[in-house]
Amino acid sequence: MVYYVKKDADTIGKAIASLFTAQVLKKPDSVLGFATGSSPIPAYQAMIELYKQGVADYSGVTTYNLDEYCGLSHDHDQSYHYFMMHNLFNFINVPHDRIHVPNGLASDFDAEGKAYDAAIDAAGGIELQILGLGNNGHIGFNEPCDVYPQITHKVTLTASTIEANKRFFASADEVPKFAITMGIGTIMKARSIVLVATGKAKAAAVKAMIKDDPTPNCPASILQFHPSVTVFLDADAASML
Ligand code: GLP
Repeated sequence: MVYYVKKDADTIGKAIASLFTAQVLKKPDSVLGFATGSSPIPAYQAMIELYKQGVADYSGVTTYNLDEYCGLSHDHDQSYHYFMMHNLFNFINVPHDRIHVPNGLASDFDAEGKAYDAAIDAAGGIELQILGLGNNGHIGFNEPCDVYPQITHKVTLTASTIEANKRFFASADEVPKFAITMGIGTIMKARSIVLVATGKAKAAAVKAMIKDDPTPNCPASILQFHPSVTVFLDADAASML
């Protein structure tokens, strides 16, 4: 794992956009893994800019997103599918039939999870996965727990995640209580991972991820065992290192 401390979120966004652009230049039919949350937005804006400049072509890619709230349809304005369309996919030339987000309305989440992982494997596996970081060290929606969950699965969101994500909803009561997320095993299979964390609220999770012994109590700490992880931080997020 290597980490860089950059001056601000826009600088980080441009660096990550360069990684994705390099990936599609190197392999136009790449399988790319995407994330939601506020942290990746500057990267998505920079990717859109590079696309508009004609530097990047996403016509050959296939995408898989990390997670989705249970109970929200694709067109719900707080669903992660909606987020991706409105923050990235509507503004680049990724074919919409090759966009994949876990189905938050699945009737059988076990079957949905197994099928999601099988589809990623069948597509050749994720080449480059972007991750944010929860204040509690979660990646995707893999919350702190006793064992690392392996495959895409349904989770119960913790009170701290509901608290952190309520800013996007009218009230905490409206935040879904469950989500479907790639497992830690699914994420660890990505060939390269780039993680972005900015702001003081992430500082303790960043320290646990990079400096402390790996534990499922900080799910992101398992990334210490991944052969290709690049972490981008601002000074606030890096303040406990
Ligand atoms: C959600 C998402 C995560 C994301 C996290 C942090 O819980 N499931 O993938 O990393 O939020 O979000 P933010 O970047 O807004 O702090």
